This record gives sequence, structure tokens and C-alpha cells, in this order.
Amino acid sequence: MAEFTLPKNSKVKQGKTFAAANGATRKKTFRIYRWEPDSGKNPRVDTYEVDLDKFGPMVLDAIIYIKNEIDSTLTFRRSCREGICGSCAMNIGGTNTLACTKAIDDFSGDIAIYPLPHMPVVKDLVPDLTHFYAQYASIKPWMQTQTPPPPDAERLQSKEDRAKLDGLYECILCACCSTSCPSYWWNSDRYLGPAILLQAYRWIIDSRDEYTGERLDELEDPFRLYRCHTIMNCTNTCPKGLNPAKAIAEIKKLMVTRTV
Ligand code: SF4
Ligand code: SF4
Ligand code: FES
Repeated sequence: MAEFTLPKNSKVKQGKTFAAANGATRKKTFRIYRWEPDSGKNPRVDTYEVDLDKFGPMVLDAIIYIKNEIDSTLTFRRSCREGICGSCAMNIGGTNTLACTKAIDDFSGDIAIYPLPHMPVVKDLVPDLTHFYAQYASIKPWMQTQTPPPPDAERLQSKEDRAKLDGLYECILCACCSTSCPSYWWNSDRYLGPAILLQAYRWIIDSRDEYTGERLDELEDPFRLYRCHTIMNCTNTCPKGLNPAKAIAEIKKLMVTRTV
């Protein structure tokens, strides 16, 4: 049955407010989604007023400051703090992006921070990526070969073939793109989504991989690949400037050329 409103226990309530310390000169307000699974309570949005002079310029700096100095219960993922690990992906000011590479100065007013959309939440800003990683494993993201490698040498690649991996190998699997994709929101049980399809294409066009046909066979499916309707949210949101929609279009082209 269609539901046109959130169930009662999912409605987001107004939470606590933490005012900035006395003497704060450059105040900024962060409104952050909070949900504690063990509390039995509804999610809420807590408001933190902070002094920008107390920490660095990125949104992640602010979140770390809030956890260290104001509210140690705030939960989020982060590791590298330089756009490499993908773990600090969240929805900031309405856009999926990396907290560590997003500058606070990019926002003129209050900054709203939510977990990546349409994913189950573990706690606060931490989404459950179990299914996303299982989908990644399903495309066999490693080189598959039938022939033995050359004796005493690596499998080599021409410069031109290596260049085909540019714009693909940089993907850090942050899931910003997949969780911005309406097709993935509604069909993530069967549609692989832009991040996983970009990764699949990375192996399909690797000149050293010898399972191209099998990889395409695996994707030849009305849901796994063809649920992409070229809405382009994925490409617009990728914090690494990649183009998953193009990678998906290239896979679709290969599907056509191998059947004609
Ligand atoms: S394509 Fe971009 S947004 Fe998508 S998972 Fe890779 S790095 Fe993240
Ligand atoms: S182009 Fe495809 S994968 Fe990207 S957001 Fe649109 S439907 Fe999703
Ligand atoms: S902390 Fe690693 S990408 Fe942000």
C-alpha cells in the first residue's frame, strides 16, 4: 500500500540546541540529524552554534570540533580527511558530498547535515553500506584472466589502454552518486546503481582482463543495468568529479555493439 507520509516513529523532531560559547566572534549554526537506534525515540535534528575561529575550514573540521568539545555522542565516519577514503560521505546542505573536502565557506547560512539519503541508518550520520558493498563484490572487482602471465614479467598495458582507466580508477566508493540516484532509491535491491556500474566498466575496459564477455553477460538484465534512466544526479554530485552516467552509457553501447 502506498504511504504518503512518514510512519510516526520516523518523523524527524526538533532536538537540543547548543549555543555558542560566550565571546564567540564568528558564529555558524550546524543542524545535524541524530538517531539512536537503542533509544526507541524518533530521529531529531540537534542545533550546534559554533565559533569558526576554533577549528579548520572544512565541514569535517566542524563536526570533529562538535564531537570533541560540545557533544561526544555525535556519531559519524571519517578517516583520511583528504578525499581518499570515502568514509565521510554525507548529505550537506542538500547535496551528497565529502565532509572533509567541503568548505564551510561554500554555505552562506546555516548548514544542515544528514546521512546519505535512502539508506538504512546505523546511528546519526552513519549509513549501513552492507548491501552496497555486497553489490560491489558481485561485479568481481579484480582482474580475471584465462591465459598465464608472461614468464618473469607483469601483464603490460599500452599507454593508450592505460589512459582508458582515467576517470574510473579514481572512484573511492563513497556512495554519494548511488544515494543521489532516484532509480537506486526505488530499486536498489536489483539495480546496481552508478558507483557499482562505474566500477564494473573499469574492469570491462581494462585491456588485461579476459572476462569482458562474461562481465557484460552478468549486467545484461532489465534491472542491474537498465534501470539507469540518464537522470544525471550521479555525475552532478560526485565529489571526485567523475562521470558515472557516462560509464553506464558506455556499457550500454558495448551491449548494443556486441549484438549487432
Ligand atoms: S563515482 Fe564518485 S560519487 Fe560515485 S562512488 Fe565513485 S567517487 Fe563516489
Ligand atoms: S544517470 Fe543513471 S545512475 Fe545516474 S542518477 Fe541518473 S538514473 Fe541514476
Ligand atoms: S575522511 Fe576520507 S574522504 Fe573524507
